[in-house]
Amino acid sequence: MGGSHRDSRSFFLPLTASGIKMSEICPMGAEFFKSKPDTDFMPLTHTKELFAKALKGKYALGAFNVNNMELLQGIVEACEEEKAPLMLQISKGARQYANPVYLKKLIEAAVSLSNIPIAVHLDHGDTFELCKDCIDEGFTSVMIDASHEPFEKNVEICRRVVEYAHKHDCVVEGELGHLVGAQFDDGEEGGNYSRSGHYTNPEEAVKFVRMSGVDSLAVAIGNSHGAYKFKGEQHLDLERLKAIKQALMDAGLGDYPLVLHGASSVPKDLVEEINRYGGKMGTDTAGVPEADIEVARRTGCTKVNIDTDLRLAMTAAIRKAFADNPKEFDPRKFLGPARTKVKELVRHKVRNVLCCSGHAFD
Ligand code: G3H
Ligand code: 13P
Ligand code: ZN
Repeated sequence: MGGSHRDSRSFFLPLTASGIKMSEICPMGAEFFKSKPDTDFMPLTHTKELFAKALKGKYALGAFNVNNMELLQGIVEACEEEKAPLMLQISKGARQYANPVYLKKLIEAAVSLSNIPIAVHLDHGDTFELCKDCIDEGFTSVMIDASHEPFEKNVEICRRVVEYAHKHDCVVEGELGHLVGAQFDDGEEGGNYSRSGHYTNPEEAVKFVRMSGVDSLAVAIGNSHGAYKFKGEQHLDLERLKAIKQALMDAGLGDYPLVLHGASSVPKDLVEEINRYGGKMGTDTAGVPEADIEVARRTGCTKVNIDTDLRLAMTAAIRKAFADNPKEFDPRKFLGPARTKVKELVRHKVRNVLCCSGHAFD
């Protein structure tokens, strides 16, 4: 997928003017945008290109969930201003909520109006069919999440998606372990790392990657989704993460890309703002400390998934707008501030936590 958009000046030229066809630069992008003539849109950037550069540059990619226009605009504007490469991810629920065509068209607009590399990823694909649909639509990567299945079955399901994806120049994220949070891990058994527990076992990770052929691996190291991640001590098992990375390296799998799901930090100020303006979030909200994400990034978590923090930012801004202007009924007056709040949050993440600011044109 080389050379897609490195020169920001030529980026703005219609591709017809340069004689380059989108389909020649990024077939996935051309597929994603197939309703458009093969002329005047920059393609998506392939996930594998973003991963390779992130691993080399030792930064993490923010994989931000999108399901509406304001979220998308806030994320893309922040990354644009920060010159940060970006992964947009779409869940099954997002497709159901917004309709895949709307999402695709919104992203098409974002890509055509921006000057940064953008990849599009399916988040938590739960069936081969959903993954296939997204591959056919031109997503640059998909996740098949069969982590709830026994090891062998997980491998088998991933293998099937990988075979289809690789034939269509798409890459695949698998998951091993259960994202149930730190408090539910059922302890150590059979050596240093639990085999029967919910956390990812380093030796099994090697076996899983080899047998399934997945291109990146989501790990379970005490992470979980949502705004209530920890009871008690608020930390990821970063030693385990290092052991997983090392085991993959020792097995000859190189600087293998790991993925951290459930990476929202659940900022206290956002929760307080929500509650100040009428929200009722519990006192036990807890996210991943930013210092942990920092270590995860340095350890080789190449893709860091963030959704909850975006939701909190939007909700805080909307609640505040409603409280400040109870007579207002123009949606732009609350969706606008929500978009701005998302933008501020993403700017902070890419600049201070993921350290991918300034890497868009590496
Ligand atoms: O991990 C799941 C993401 O936060 C997406 O959530 O399935 O509610 O869209 P969703
Ligand atoms: P959070 O709920 O921590 O934002 O995690 C999102 C995620 O992992 C999406 O796949
Ligand atoms: Zn997730």
